[in-house]
Amino acid sequence: MSKKTIKDVQLTGKTVLIRVDFNVPMKNGQITDQNRIVQALPTIKYVLEQKAKIVLFSHLGRVEKEEDKLTNSLAPVAKRLSELLAKPVLFINETRGPKLEAAVKNMKVGDILMFENTRFEDLNGKAESKNNSELGKYWASLGDVFVNDAFGTAHRAHASNVGIANNSDEVVAGFLMEKEIKFIGDAVDHPVRPFVAILGGAKVSDKISVIENLLTKADKILICGAMAYTFLKAQGLEIGLSKCEDDYVEFAKSLLEKGRGKLILPVDHAVALEFSDQATFEVVDVDKTPADRMGLDIGPKTIALFKKELQGAKTVVWNGPAGVFEFAQFAYGTKSICQLLAELPNATTVIGGGDSAAAAIKFGFENQFTHISTGGGASLEYLEGKELPGVAAINDVCCCGRC
Ligand code: 3PG
Repeated sequence: MSKKTIKDVQLTGKTVLIRVDFNVPMKNGQITDQNRIVQALPTIKYVLEQKAKIVLFSHLGRVEKEEDKLTNSLAPVAKRLSELLAKPVLFINETRGPKLEAAVKNMKVGDILMFENTRFEDLNGKAESKNNSELGKYWASLGDVFVNDAFGTAHRAHASNVGIANNSDEVVAGFLMEKEIKFIGDAVDHPVRPFVAILGGAKVSDKISVIENLLTKADKILICGAMAYTFLKAQGLEIGLSKCEDDYVEFAKSLLEKGRGKLILPVDHAVALEFSDQATFEVVDVDKTPADRMGLDIGPKTIALFKKELQGAKTVVWNGPAGVFEFAQFAYGTKSICQLLAELPNATTVIGGGDSAAAAIKFGFENQFTHISTGGGASLEYLEGKELPGVAAINDVCCCGRC
């Protein structure tokens, strides 16, 4: 079912509530990655062009106790947004009450207001996270139209996405939400074939449902990252001190059987004595792993194999890094996958959020993929084939011409 977008509603003169996911990483009060803010700009700029008033809101981190408010204020985010837009953003350090209401009432066309972290409401009996119906209704009452552009939060049914939607007449997707639904949704549900998935990261247990879902949809699944070791062990190989989820070895074995050649595992890897950015390493074939070493990255033979498997691919989805890319000497595999995908001719390449998205941006490949998802958990659940409550709550495009 397709979803209505901001292009389907009349916004001029209205107060437009925009739920964004500005849950950005912060260190000592400083934003360390502004990608989610940048990705929301097209929606914000479009609403401004329509001569509307904008009330923006987001969650940031988890707020479980009073002190968490100190480190999770959205004030620095409002400041950064203002710099990116070269325009004032009025920040209201409340999540409800007369001060917020008066500020909204006083807005003029073209004004932008951002209110405080929606999760501050979690100190009131988890009102935000438990989707308290009064809270959703209250926030919905602040505006005329609800635009949900927070794909990163779409796997949550919270008051600030689902609650507001349930209390608003017009609920539409912003451009970022639209893009995420299109690229991740289409890649998984209507892929142009051959469709190749690349799955990495630390744990098989995190990706069980993704692998199971993609086994029914992808033509090949290339496995890398630490989770490959659970599969290699399932094949009876010595994996030394490499990370392995012993409880999942039997499960990995059953996936290999079910996959009948669809699952492609690394053939060589960089092994070291310790998990450290100072560790020296050597590259060995996976059937020659010394018992006292751990694998921390894939090697060039694996990249050559992945290149072969990717040849001719028309749709590629990648989730999870190939190695410990945070350490320079183990970034080779993740960087090489970025390069392979960037060079693939005529393919739709989608990075399914999280660490692989961060790596692609860190290594300068930001503009070389069709789409880099802003969702972590949300893109993973989408790849699992689950319905996301935040997406489900957006109005559907009329199917009959009457509704
Ligand atoms: C994310 O970063 O994955 C989203 O913003 C959701 O955050 P949460 O896991 O704290 O709900």
